[in-house]
Amino acid sequence: MSARKERKALRDLEREAIAAAQPRRPGPRGWFARGGGRVNVVQPVEEYRGTTRQVCGLWPFPVGAGTPTVGVPLGLHLATGATACADPVSWFQAGLISNPSVAVLGLPGLGKSTIVRRMAAGGAGFGVLPLVLGDLKPDYVDLIRALGGQVIELGRGRGHLNVLDPGEAHAAAELLRSRGLEAERQQVLADAHGRRHTMVSALLTILRKTPPTDREESIIDRALKVLDEKHRGVPVLGDLLQVIKDAPQEVRDVALDRGDIMRYRQITEDLEASLISLTSGGRLGEMFAHPTDVPMRRDKPVVYDVSSIDDSDTDLQAATLLACWSAGFGTVNVANVLADAGLEPRRHYFVILDELWRALRAGRGMVDRVDALTRLNRQRGVGMAMISHTMSDLLALPTEEERMKARGFVERAGMLVAGGLPGAEMPMLTAAKPLSRAEQEILISWQDPPAWDASTGQEAEPPGRGRFLVKVGGHPGIPLRVELLPLEVAVNDTNKLWHASVLPDVEGVAS
Ligand SMILES: Nc1ncnc2c1ncn2[C@@H]1O[C@H](COP(=O)(O)OP(=O)(O)OP(=O)(O)O)[C@@H](O)[C@H]1O
Ligand SMILES: [Mg+2]
Repeated sequence: MSARKERKALRDLEREAIAAAQPRRPGPRGWFARGGGRVNVVQPVEEYRGTTRQVCGLWPFPVGAGTPTVGVPLGLHLATGATACADPVSWFQAGLISNPSVAVLGLPGLGKSTIVRRMAAGGAGFGVLPLVLGDLKPDYVDLIRALGGQVIELGRGRGHLNVLDPGEAHAAAELLRSRGLEAERQQVLADAHGRRHTMVSALLTILRKTPPTDREESIIDRALKVLDEKHRGVPVLGDLLQVIKDAPQEVRDVALDRGDIMRYRQITEDLEASLISLTSGGRLGEMFAHPTDVPMRRDKPVVYDVSSIDDSDTDLQAATLLACWSAGFGTVNVANVLADAGLEPRRHYFVILDELWRALRAGRGMVDRVDALTRLNRQRGVGMAMISHTMSDLLALPTEEERMKARGFVERAGMLVAGGLPGAEMPMLTAAKPLSRAEQEILISWQDPPAWDASTGQEAEPPGRGRFLVKVGGHPGIPLRVELLPLEVAVNDTNKLWHASVLPDVEGVAS
């Protein structure tokens, strides 16, 4: 063997020794040899998600989710599949938003009430009491019942809600007086007075389609004060009417009758006529003119079931929603003041105002009433969800001033949850909450109509159902899909009336 050949053989030997010493690795598809397990198609690996508690043995494999895992789990992030959590109370407590309220917008039937119901159910698990102040469908009654809460039914011939009932305010004021907390007492009484005044004015606005005059407002204000001083027990609208008819001096002073009782009668004639309509079962019925049947509790979840009111009865719907809001916010205010004074445990509430647009549409001046009734002296710990369809629904108001105030409801909300919306909505929506172009496009794509399913002859599910974008300030929106749990489906059936259909028992059809 030549020296050259020998050197080559030695080099080959060395290479083989090195190769033999190294572990052999298969290629990405396996060994290419008989029995080597080579596959031509590599199946994607199944992905699982769980908390470090559930899959602690797998740590440290996890990929962190890009969204805060604070609050109620709402569904899965559409891009990453991670669990997306959000609710206004938890996010406010965690300092992620500056105001514990959420505005929910989206076309009908895409699941707005469903996502808010999830927030309510999850929040109840954290100890936050849901208060549904007016359920028109009913969307929330089954849930509140399942949570062991109070269901209050209202409607024509189905219960009364006295708009002059101060609720627990007087009892709370007495309690505060006995503890020497005069400032808090004054605050509770002033709030109750303001709400009752606003409510009477709101009912007059709905009845007449225009707000009461300044002078009428003063007369109502003063007459309510007279009623508080002189009336024993809880007054009703009939008592207010009687005070105005009795013409006490204080009321005559603000009516500016200049000492002439005939002039007073002229000034109060319209007001009397409207109050007579409200007390004698006029257009709005007598639901608000009798003592409240079931007082609202403040230690349990509550829903006002107003689903018996027909959708065509728009004025009564709006008036009832406002009356429920007034009673509900009054109760929350009393609970807050008592908790601040250390007289009651601090309870957190999640107030749900569904179908906001119905109340705003009821007449000129309603925006102010809604604003006044839904304002709280201290919003700490009270979450609020305001649900409406589109911005144009909110903005279909006669004056620019009112439209700006309605836009303010969305602007002020700490969190926006938007579902499928038409493209024409985007300029209005972005004026209230800035959305990037991509975010706008995703919302527009969710409003596409569902396809026809030729095999079943039915419509497939709308592409946007259960899909929402959670938007907070300038942060990128979180697109998510709400996944209903089997337990939820039972309390989520808004089509119950249709399932139980039987064939009519007509000869030749039933057999
Ligand atoms: N994530 C979801 N998965 C499956 N079904 C859903 C989901 N969200 C909503 N639905 C179903 O869609 C229907 C409409 O939902 P929902 O009543 O919440 O809509 P909405 O937006 O509140 O409608 P509206 O504007 O008329 O009040 C219901 O039957 C509900 O069960
Ligand atoms: Mg709804």
